[in-house]
Amino acid sequence: MNKQIRALLAGTTMLMASAGWATAEDVEVLHWWTSGGEAAALNVLKENLEAEGIGWQDMPVAGGGGEQAMTVLRARVTGGNPPTAVQMLGFDIQDWAALGVVADLNELAAEESWDAVVPAALQDFSKFDGKWVAAPVNVHSTNWVWANKAIFDELGLAQPTSWDELVAALDAIEAAGYTAVAHGGQAWQDATIFDAVVVSTGGPEFYKAAMIDLDPEALGSDTMKEAFDRMAVIRSYVDDNFSGRDWNLATAMVINKEAGVQFMGDWAKGEFLNAGKVPGEDFLCFRFPGTQGTVTFNADQFVMFEVGEEGRDAQKKLASAILDPGFQIAFNKVKGSVPARTDVAGDELDACGQQGMMELAEAAAAGHLYGSMAHGHGAPAAVKNAVYDVVTAHFNGEYDSATAVEELVAAVEGAQ
Ligand code: GAL
Repeated sequence: MNKQIRALLAGTTMLMASAGWATAEDVEVLHWWTSGGEAAALNVLKENLEAEGIGWQDMPVAGGGGEQAMTVLRARVTGGNPPTAVQMLGFDIQDWAALGVVADLNELAAEESWDAVVPAALQDFSKFDGKWVAAPVNVHSTNWVWANKAIFDELGLAQPTSWDELVAALDAIEAAGYTAVAHGGQAWQDATIFDAVVVSTGGPEFYKAAMIDLDPEALGSDTMKEAFDRMAVIRSYVDDNFSGRDWNLATAMVINKEAGVQFMGDWAKGEFLNAGKVPGEDFLCFRFPGTQGTVTFNADQFVMFEVGEEGRDAQKKLASAILDPGFQIAFNKVKGSVPARTDVAGDELDACGQQGMMELAEAAAAGHLYGSMAHGHGAPAAVKNAVYDVVTAHFNGEYDSATAVEELVAAVEGAQ
């Protein structure tokens, strides 16, 4: 090939990539994994596919929790040009499947016995009308605390196991001159803390009544008012610059010994690992005090969109690569989550990962494994966004706790 033709071809390839056209053996993947730890995890998938000769067209849309990614997706589907696969959470999968724009993965799922290996709590979201439409990649949980071990050692702090112990620990951290709670003021992050605070304040059954069953009595209860009061207490331990901060920058504050703890899902562990930190040596992971025994989960799945005959083969290979047992271990070790298959052993995971896997199984057995409201597994997006609005307005001092409770009942009712 002469130089000119080669240059022309290279230009065409670049043009196709930037216009979002996938060739037959390419996959275009829309996701919000843009932090260091997230990108490192996604790279495992990308490399596995490339080894199979499948090209990867990356379509990252920054924004933890995925709200912005879902906005971009709407534009792409409306424009008649859906990506091959899209990272998605819980009820959003069902909403997109109901529109009839997603692929049918049943043939592959049957060949690879997905029914037998994917936990039922995930299958409820991966299937629509009995049809597999998404490939689950992990199980995260949201009710974790990530703590700087050097600060805990320096102050002689034990891991708190109750709300009162937590407050005492935060007081000690603050008194020593550190930011007690590293937090990013974005609605989904406020709501992530709220998941844990609701469980801790009212117990697992209360969480279920309020956040899953959307029972107006639970939503409007004194217990809910107390949960909001506790959110206000947490707000008092956050630094002045928290507003709008990305979650991974908050994690970095704990990593860099500027802050004592972060309340965040276990994707935070991916940031510690990416920074070369070791669980039990550099950082501690423990359940949000008062939520031991309960797990609020979210699971990332890749929803396959209807891309026509041309793209189907590469799409099938992508789905198969995601469910591959070896990949599930390799990926989740880096991501901070645990595998979305019940038949892979967890002994390659680090201490936090093994604890997470064990607690997930225990919570499921006790009936205390619940979908995370903050991450789209409690209720559909309309309700989730209504909860976000109230939680964030209260966190920023717009409502007192009594008003927040009233607003919550009204907002949830209005969103259904
Ligand atoms: C969650 C998602 C995680 C994660 C986090 C922050 O919704 O499930 O995988 O990385 O957002 O971006």
